[in-house]
Amino acid sequence: MCRPRVTLEGMTATAARTAVTASPGASPGSTQTRPWPEPGIVDVLAAASRLAGLVERTPVESYAELDRVTGASVLVKHENLQRTGAFKARGALNLLLTLDEAVRRTGVVAYSTGNHAQGVAYAARHTGTRCTIVMPQGPNPVKERAVRDLGAEVVLHGATFDDARVYAEQLAGRSGARLVGAANEPAIVAGVGTLYLETFLQAPGLDVLVVPVGGGSGAAAAALVAAAVAPGVEVVAVQSAASPAAHDSFHAGELVARPNASLAEGLATGTGFALTQQMMRGRLTDFVLVTDEEIADAQRLYLTAAHTVAEGAGAAALAAVVGQRERYAGRRVGVICTGGNASAAELRRCLDV
Ligand SMILES: Cc1ncc(COP(=O)(O)O)c(C=O)c1O
Repeated sequence: MCRPRVTLEGMTATAARTAVTASPGASPGSTQTRPWPEPGIVDVLAAASRLAGLVERTPVESYAELDRVTGASVLVKHENLQRTGAFKARGALNLLLTLDEAVRRTGVVAYSTGNHAQGVAYAARHTGTRCTIVMPQGPNPVKERAVRDLGAEVVLHGATFDDARVYAEQLAGRSGARLVGAANEPAIVAGVGTLYLETFLQAPGLDVLVVPVGGGSGAAAAALVAAAVAPGVEVVAVQSAASPAAHDSFHAGELVARPNASLAEGLATGTGFALTQQMMRGRLTDFVLVTDEEIADAQRLYLTAAHTVAEGAGAAALAAVVGQRERYAGRRVGVICTGGNASAAELRRCLDV
């Protein structure tokens, strides 16, 4: 007998119908004992439907040299080729598309070292939403320029991501704008989940998926989608040892603050975040650290072996696979290249080591 083919289009159409009838905070995946309302797979499917045509279905590629260096069969999901140059556009668009008209008129405020900022600015332009972005002083100039070009107002404040967050909270409190956080946002996690739906469709038969972490929206989404559609696949999260707050929060089982000195902006957070930590708990196979030097080596490997410009955070998953060869050798490994917005100084640094 001929079985009906399961397609993303079919799944998303059903989900879109289901999602509108689901009550807020009662989506599948949330449980009574978990205090934050979690998005479920139905929310990810609804996001895929909402985002169709607004984000790229980025390619998955393999490269002989990456396989040789790692001993694994490496499949790179190229979110460096996503609109805005990073996966963050998916989550921001999904969130802004679900805001009320009145909220859009008052506007949104976000804080970011760059890619979340670009994602929110891109989504704000698409939805006609007023947008202010707080970035720490001295941001990656590529990212700052891109945010301004997208029409957002940029405020530079503080030395770190966490300083920018506090200031953005104050701004939103004063103006009544909707604060768009980087991690404690179910709609952002659901939007980011579309990246993993695509990955599992494009790269069937993965043994393990390796995902970089800053605030944790990517890894939380990966863990959620893997559990729902590819439950045998291991999900390994990676952060920089120079900014280990998410890693340490995961292993401690509580939110902790840590020094935040990674040069890989997307990984540079100083605290764990409640929603994403809650979602990673019990779902991730492991959470590991790599050094900033290993990340720079992986950026160089992307350049020379895969004609790919990866920013530091975008190269962290590959760094983890190169650094733990024995864990991955002989396996089919999905590596998310989450972003390509490297500054000239960053590229120079990785070529000079
Ligand atoms: C390129 C890139 N990769 C990974 C991350 C980490 O993502 P998350 O904050 O969802 O953990 C970020 C965060 O900004 C990023 O910009």
